[in-house]
Amino acid sequence: MSSASESPVILQRLRSETRPYHDALEQNHFNQALGAGQVSAEQTHWFLAKLYGFLKPYEAHLDQHEFTPAWDIAQRHRAHLILADLPPNSPLPLCPDMPPLATWPQLLGALYVLEGSTLGGQVITRQLAKAGIESRTYFSGNGDQTGPLWKRFCQLLTEEATDANQAEIVDSASLTFQKLHAWINQP
Ligand code: HEM
Repeated sequence: MSSASESPVILQRLRSETRPYHDALEQNHFNQALGAGQVSAEQTHWFLAKLYGFLKPYEAHLDQHEFTPAWDIAQRHRAHLILADLPPNSPLPLCPDMPPLATWPQLLGALYVLEGSTLGGQVITRQLAKAGIESRTYFSGNGDQTGPLWKRFCQLLTEEATDANQAEIVDSASLTFQKLHAWINQP
């Protein structure tokens, strides 16, 4: 599996069909300031609180489902890491408009988005370190286990994808990106 053309169809579809949403999400204020090397602790806290507001209800949906041990699902719960990065008593509103996460294909699509975000987290944690921002617990995440966890996730997702559920997985990933984008951009 060394090139995109050899990668399983579900991964190719997810990557290509959600790319516009990924690119749009990357344009948020926090990432722009980060990219320009001008990020503040306040902006970082704001972004982390937004992520918490989405991750917490998403993880509640994960908890409704039985995962086999191969999924390492405890390690894929990360909302609690954000608490270590925020000042005590920070307000933590929850996203009121989550994508539907009731079915297995819907959960798989959302897992793709949130697991994939750990790859960007590795870039962000280096940028934050450079800017002297200490709040890096969440973005550091699973550290050098990030790549292996992502690879294992992609393998499991590929095993679960069928001709019958593929469209639902991709639609859920697209919707998850859009809802996260709307939540992050909501004042
Ligand atoms: C919360 C916002 C974000 C979400 C939900 C997200 C989601 C994803 C997903 C699903 C993937 C997997 C793509 C694939 O199928 O290979 C991915 C990859 C990646 N993302 Fe993000 N991402 C976010 C923000 C960012 C940001 C801000 C950056 C840049 C600092 C970034 C950089 C990357 C990189 C470098 C990859 C790996 C691309 C590759 O392997 O070719 N992401 N992200």
